[in-house]
Amino acid sequence: MRPRQTTRTSTVAAVLLALLAALLAAPPAAAAASGPVTVLSHGFEDGTTQGWTPRASDSVAVSTALARTGAASLASTGRTAGWNGPTLDLLGTLEQGTRYTFSVYVRLAPGESATTLRMSVERRSGSTPSYDQVAGSTNAGEGAWTQLTGTYTLAHDVDFLTVYIESASATAAFHVDDFTLTYTPPRPIQTDIPALKDVLAPHFPIGAAITRAETLGVHGELLARHFDSVTPGNALKWDATQPTEGDFRFADGDALIGYGAEHGMAVRGHTLVWHNQTPSWVFDDASGEPMTATPENKALLLSRLDAHIRAVVGHFGDAIGTWDVVNEVIDESQGDGLRRSRWFELTGLDYIRTAFRVAREAAPEAKLFINDYNTNVPAKRDKLHALVAQLLAEGVPVDGVGHQMHVTFEWPSVAETGEMLDRFAPLGVEQQITEMDMSVYRDSGESFPTPPADRLLTQGHRYQAMFDLFRAHDDQIGSVTLWGLADDSTWLDTFPVTRKDHPLLFDTELQAKPAYWGIVDPGQIGNPPGGQGCTVAYRTSSWQGGFQATVTVTSATAVAGWSLAWTFADGQRVTQMWNGRRTQNDAEVTVVNEPYNAVIAAGGSVSFGFLGSWSGTNASPTAFRFNGTACAVV
Ligand code: XIL
Repeated sequence: MRPRQTTRTSTVAAVLLALLAALLAAPPAAAAASGPVTVLSHGFEDGTTQGWTPRASDSVAVSTALARTGAASLASTGRTAGWNGPTLDLLGTLEQGTRYTFSVYVRLAPGESATTLRMSVERRSGSTPSYDQVAGSTNAGEGAWTQLTGTYTLAHDVDFLTVYIESASATAAFHVDDFTLTYTPPRPIQTDIPALKDVLAPHFPIGAAITRAETLGVHGELLARHFDSVTPGNALKWDATQPTEGDFRFADGDALIGYGAEHGMAVRGHTLVWHNQTPSWVFDDASGEPMTATPENKALLLSRLDAHIRAVVGHFGDAIGTWDVVNEVIDESQGDGLRRSRWFELTGLDYIRTAFRVAREAAPEAKLFINDYNTNVPAKRDKLHALVAQLLAEGVPVDGVGHQMHVTFEWPSVAETGEMLDRFAPLGVEQQITEMDMSVYRDSGESFPTPPADRLLTQGHRYQAMFDLFRAHDDQIGSVTLWGLADDSTWLDTFPVTRKDHPLLFDTELQAKPAYWGIVDPGQIGNPPGGQGCTVAYRTSSWQGGFQATVTVTSATAVAGWSLAWTFADGQRVTQMWNGRRTQNDAEVTVVNEPYNAVIAAGGSVSFGFLGSWSGTNASPTAFRFNGTACAVV
């Protein structure tokens, strides 16, 4: 176990030393990434649909009734199902392993009632379609344009590839405008920082949940460098492995397990039985109707469960050492603590008993886990404890309890998390942290365009505290897995609402965050070596010849008075500014504070905005100096 804190130099001396170090510091080895490259940009101003077509018998047409910019947009009408909508062929356009940013503006046609719209990708290998969400469901109103944006990485060869705009169910007509497809050349991963797996080796292996995209390029390098194990995030779930009865699909699972084997990494299998991502056919009776609770239906459902587990577990054999056999079966609001899933309604507890028994038969060497979220919440924890105790007493082969640990920067307490671990220890089962991430949001109402630096610092301290706890309980914990590799791809971007979250240890450019340092070297939380004391978010919306910019600077240290300088690449001119005072000499711009926003607290931010003119491409500046020091650009 490492000591929590060793020596404490006097604060003043430390600050002076840090200042000196910052002054002497050479520019960071990894140069700032160059700006985004635009692959496609569709404003429909040339009077054509620019390659967009309808998905079904709906229609798309250029319209001048509404336009976000210019005089035209694309109207989608005659939709008869949620999945209808405008679509664009991308086969041959997307390169494998490159993370693309998609952006489009949508607006409901006049008279339509408010609904949500989203952006998705359809890919096919052979004739098998798969659907990936690029931008989650976002409220679209009649009177305003709404942006749908998200990233997507093509991870393997496909025979068909399109992007499309759809709704969950509504058939409202809508307009789209200003579609762009861009990518930013990736920054190299840091090779001068300790590998997480080495730092944690004395305590437990560390894993990450992944998709195939995370095994490619710089993502694959980051994964192999820092992690001991992988968990396929979706590829082993029922909807992925047996979408229709008897039709087993293992291409994604095989690819991920192959990556694990190639890099000497262990694999956690997730998950055999769940109430989500299970196709509806599983719960249809012999005549294709939804099952009612009868002995025949119970027998049919358990036989399907038996066949599924034998096929999936049997397929991977020894390559998967641990399985989440059942997932999220507890509901503490029920007197008996058992979730009223279709599984429970139709079989009672027998689906759990069958799943463990069959998994043990199919993979006698694998460790078999029961996995759940909010297991720190005392009411839920105790119901899970009671169930595991009962199953063990019955002789059901449960080897371990998985704590998902989807937490936030302020919840739960470390003490409650410690009580969670201590509660299960006497049962003699192994415990694993299976899906840890830490939202930067307090509740569903918050949404930040860029993460405030103080939240990221708090997150760093909270990761430190949680991992200190895990290390202190390393005799109880068999492994710790994070639910994702880096902040550029996290399920929390669309759950519980659509907004960008930053819950992991590496940022959207795969660089170490305070959260990483919280685990590796807490003294560096606010001062990552090789990193910068400031971050700049530069956001614009432009129109022909003009643009508006919002610039947010976050400072790791407290300042009383600031300047921010940058160079425009494209002959842009600032014409009007607020919350800052500017001077511009040709391409060189320097902004200084107003008297009222001179002070920034440590970890705090300041924003200013301006109007500008441009010609050419209006590329964003890629380097900023804050009080003379280079900043990270986010
Ligand atoms: C999530 C995946 O990460 C998403 O891609 C998918 O859309 C939904 O499921 N608890 C679990 C995981 O046990 O399986 C979930 O994974 C996250 C919550």
